[in-house]
Amino acid sequence: MRVLGIETSCDETGVALYDTEQGLLADALYSQVGMHAEFGGVVPELASRDHVRRLLPLMRQVLEQGGTAPEDLDGIAYTAGPGLAGALLVGAATARALAFAWDIPALPVHHMEGHLLAPLLEADPPAFPFVALLVSGGHTMLLDARALGDYHLLGESVDDAAGEAFDKAAKMMGLGYPGGPRISALAQQGNPDRFTFPRPMTDRPGMDFSFSGLKTYCLNTIAACGGAEALSEQDRADIARAFETAVVETLVIKCRRAMEASGHGTLVMAGGVSANTRLRARLDEALGAKGVRVCYPRQALCTDNGAMIAFAGALRLAAGERQEGLGISVRARWPLMELAPI
Ligand code: KG4
Ligand code: ZN
Repeated sequence: MRVLGIETSCDETGVALYDTEQGLLADALYSQVGMHAEFGGVVPELASRDHVRRLLPLMRQVLEQGGTAPEDLDGIAYTAGPGLAGALLVGAATARALAFAWDIPALPVHHMEGHLLAPLLEADPPAFPFVALLVSGGHTMLLDARALGDYHLLGESVDDAAGEAFDKAAKMMGLGYPGGPRISALAQQGNPDRFTFPRPMTDRPGMDFSFSGLKTYCLNTIAACGGAEALSEQDRADIARAFETAVVETLVIKCRRAMEASGHGTLVMAGGVSANTRLRARLDEALGAKGVRVCYPRQALCTDNGAMIAFAGALRLAAGERQEGLGISVRARWPLMELAPI
């Protein structure tokens, strides 16, 4: 079974081709980051318009790279939510129209399920059941993943997502957007002993997160250094280091609890923040020592991409899922737990 996947939920146009026998045949991405950077974040209307510009050329490129003609396709999977409504509509309408023209099924895919399944695209993929840590710009969740579509919430952020916290902290320090990779790079030069930021909600039981307080802590630390304009390169690096460590250690503590609560032996991590090298290393170290297998995708499959959508769509199509009718519906908000096992 060969499936074309389309991702347009935010500021990345992703298209990929996945074959259930041969694996990932082609994967292309156009990132709008440069366009949104001057506004300090994603501008939804600009995002939608740019998806319109990029999508068809990327599809052509991927089909050519994958040596695939439309008649070789068994379906088109597209991100139907959650995300920016206008951006989602571009992918959904394109997928639905082409699937109709090519007489193949179109399948809506949940963006976060795409992330969750991305680590399974790697060699020696983990098998269900496992604990999943989903850490992106919009979500921070710990799930008990028992089977495809069978996800149970263990904990989630009560306010900002982990990636959002990175982005906001970076903005305060004048580092630009997106903040995660910039803070992470700066933190390498940071002195780990200069500042200590709190590990929110770790002093009470449970697996929920709260990252908005770290923002205030960051702001106060910047003020104590004389304000954002007065920060030296070393101040920035030291704050970045303290901030990153606080987020990473908080995630590690909650993951440890999730492994104990679920009794599973595998942790799967995905979403943009899973690209963070310190987080990867600390989870390997802290959970590996307890005999837990920690799995995460290659860097390019951590952030938004078409491959994860093609893959999730292929698994669902192979399991017999179909969407009736020619309508399209996208959902800006769509709780992952509404999916049903198939
Ligand atoms: O999954 P993703 O590409 O988009 C969403 O679905 O939200 O995640 C983007 C988020 C951004 O907040 C970005 O700052 C963060 O992932 N991110 C990182 C790193 N790379 C991306 N955060 C920390 N360290 C990184 N290396
Ligand atoms: Zn994402």
